[in-house]
Amino acid sequence: MESKNADLIEKILDLKKTRNAVILAHNYQLGEVQDIADFVGDSLELSQNAAKTNAGVIVFCGVHFMAETASILCPDKVVLLPDMNAGCPMADMITAERLRAKKKEHPQAVVVCYINSSAEVKAESDICCTSANAIKVIESLDAREILFIPDQYLGHYISAKTGRKMILWPGFCPTHVRIRPERIKELKREYPQAKVVVHPECTPEVIALADEVFSTSGMCRYARRNEVREMVVGTEIGIIHRLKKENPGKRFIPVSEQAICPNMKLITLEKVLWSLEEMNPEVKVPEGVRVRAKAAVDKMLQIS
Ligand code: 13P
Ligand code: SF4
Repeated sequence: MESKNADLIEKILDLKKTRNAVILAHNYQLGEVQDIADFVGDSLELSQNAAKTNAGVIVFCGVHFMAETASILCPDKVVLLPDMNAGCPMADMITAERLRAKKKEHPQAVVVCYINSSAEVKAESDICCTSANAIKVIESLDAREILFIPDQYLGHYISAKTGRKMILWPGFCPTHVRIRPERIKELKREYPQAKVVVHPECTPEVIALADEVFSTSGMCRYARRNEVREMVVGTEIGIIHRLKKENPGKRFIPVSEQAICPNMKLITLEKVLWSLEEMNPEVKVPEGVRVRAKAAVDKMLQIS
């Protein structure tokens, strides 16, 4: 297994140079994929990195909306998503058509769109946000009515934090709803010294039990800087690899071993190599949609 990976890794790194490619990976990727990436981060950091890279090719190890965001920001670059089936079920819980109908019901509302959405949906929105900057984005708005799409739980959390009333789309992350409050209560009893850190895609009942609520990279920063030796982690379990790697002396306890995003796990070393060999599958956003979606992403990046 070890030598098979060594061979694959060598081929990927060689081809990466030939193609002038950069490999970006999300914090939920398989450990071996994170380990060959040039940069590992959360959605905000990945979009910032895509926007500023000098590489001609971006191999995006994440899910479709993330590769699309890179393509929105860098239309002249080739953006490869090693498995086109790596989607995000939450992003699929809203379509541009359904959003247009909702906007007709609330013509005055400013539409704030979580980055976990398609380019078409972003194109219908006023401003994007990620889990790392959602509070800042909402606080920057002086709108009387805000329509927040598609994650009801992130929306609920931001609304509670900012005191702003928002109309919430009923979307959710199927992986994060597997993180249950009962299990957190048990783990708190088992590890009384541990800090409980969760992602804002968790349900309000889970968030109410947490010490801290962070984006995935926010969790990594907290683990590095904080003195805490034990952390109960309420998010997708791929992040445990990075947490352990960066903090060898500390203990990380996932709330649920079942909190797995199957889409994130579709990206493998083999597929990364094939995508570089074949320069395929490529994610490209049609120009009319891209320009409108970029306006919403740019507004977010300006205030991040
Ligand atoms: P982050 O932006 O916090 O990495 O979250 C992305 C995501 O898809 C969480 O499910
Ligand atoms: Fe989408 Fe949830 Fe997977 Fe994140 S963890 S990509 S929100 S399905």
